[in-house]
Amino acid sequence: MTSSPGRRRAAVVGTGAIVSGGHLPALRAHTDRVELVAAVDVDPGRLDAFRTEAGEGVTGFSTTEAMLAAVRPDLVLIGTPPSLHREQTVAALKAGAWVLCEKPLCLSLAEYDEIAAAEAASGAYASVIFQHRYGSGAVRARELIRGGELGAPLVAHCQTTWHRDAGYYSVPWRGRWATEGGGPTTGHGIHQYDLLLHLLGEWEEVQAMAARLVHDTESEDVSTALVRFAGGALATVVNSVLSPDEVSRVRVDCADATVELTHLYGHTNDDWVYTPAPHVPQERAAAWREAGEDVPSSHTAQLGFVLDAWDAGVRPPGSGREARSTLEFAAALYKAAFTGRAVRAGEIRPGDPFYEAMHGGVGETWSGVGRA
Ligand SMILES: NC(=O)c1ccc[n+]([C@@H]2O[C@H](COP(=O)([O-])OP(=O)(O)OC[C@H]3O[C@@H](n4cnc5c(N)ncnc54)[C@H](O)[C@@H]3O)[C@@H](O)[C@H]2O)c1
Repeated sequence: MTSSPGRRRAAVVGTGAIVSGGHLPALRAHTDRVELVAAVDVDPGRLDAFRTEAGEGVTGFSTTEAMLAAVRPDLVLIGTPPSLHREQTVAALKAGAWVLCEKPLCLSLAEYDEIAAAEAASGAYASVIFQHRYGSGAVRARELIRGGELGAPLVAHCQTTWHRDAGYYSVPWRGRWATEGGGPTTGHGIHQYDLLLHLLGEWEEVQAMAARLVHDTESEDVSTALVRFAGGALATVVNSVLSPDEVSRVRVDCADATVELTHLYGHTNDDWVYTPAPHVPQERAAAWREAGEDVPSSHTAQLGFVLDAWDAGVRPPGSGREARSTLEFAAALYKAAFTGRAVRAGEIRPGDPFYEAMHGGVGETWSGVGRA
């Protein structure tokens, strides 16, 4: 197997919807820095269709192990159902490859800590795909909020109100604790609250509720949370797949401005609106809207950041503490919903049932309404 000099050699594991629609365009956009040399899928029909779409030079495999042994890729992009992410990420890390894996990176904090141990042993890194962090509008908003330019963050809303029908949940891995890891909390709203955490920093305490109101699933189809951040800000989070009028929204009210993002599955600079407080001069507010070149949030944008980190020889964004913090927030939301009490950052440790599984061992007995 030959490859062009100077380019990273990449493999994709899983050739379904998101790899075809997100990872392949990203690899094509960065073709000067990375080349796709292999693809893995257990479904030969999907694999063949993907290889036809991807073009020449992509060798097909039916298992990750066979691909890793034959190809020794530099980078593995994973887009399989969530229950496979841990084992495939660990295998790739052990083979010395960097990993860019779809969300959720894994099903529990226990699984995350296995990935962290594999990272430490290999020296390679595993990042999770949260593409909305990497659009230029989000980069700008974070710079302004974390740099103090908008004043202290005080109140935030984080809303993922999407709609999914019964056909969507007829896919066997969806809506099951063991295969998807949860409902819209781990599968859909996780994009928006990951962005909220990215903008506001460390969270301190979560209270929450979850319910299964419509779908024939094991996990919830709606959850809501109240959050206190370490800096003092209070936030609400809604994760729904029951909402006919679909929208994704993150709004942060700071002392000097409200910043609000409204989009659905991806944002551009124009989706970010800054409203100054009455005491703020217009010239100062005008500067906030200068986000530079418009880079839409996308897998392409995130892959660029990962390749930059590789070139610089540093830990890539979306890995390590950043990846764990979002997963810990999900675990805390479920623990708060299922126990009916506030959960503090850091309290879910080995020995806690919510460390081992998002449902804390009560998934099968949960009635779908109220505490487990
Ligand atoms: N970042 C985003 O915006 C976004 C959007 C959609 C889905 N996702 C995530 O992407 C992942 C996949 O979702 P999807 O909608 O593309 O699913 P999908 O069912 O369309 O694709 C999954 C693919 O994995 C293959 N597969 C199953 N077992 C495998 C194995 N052992 N080895 C190799 N391949 C195997 C399947 O045959 C299928 O082709 C999920 O984690 C999902 O949450 C992310």
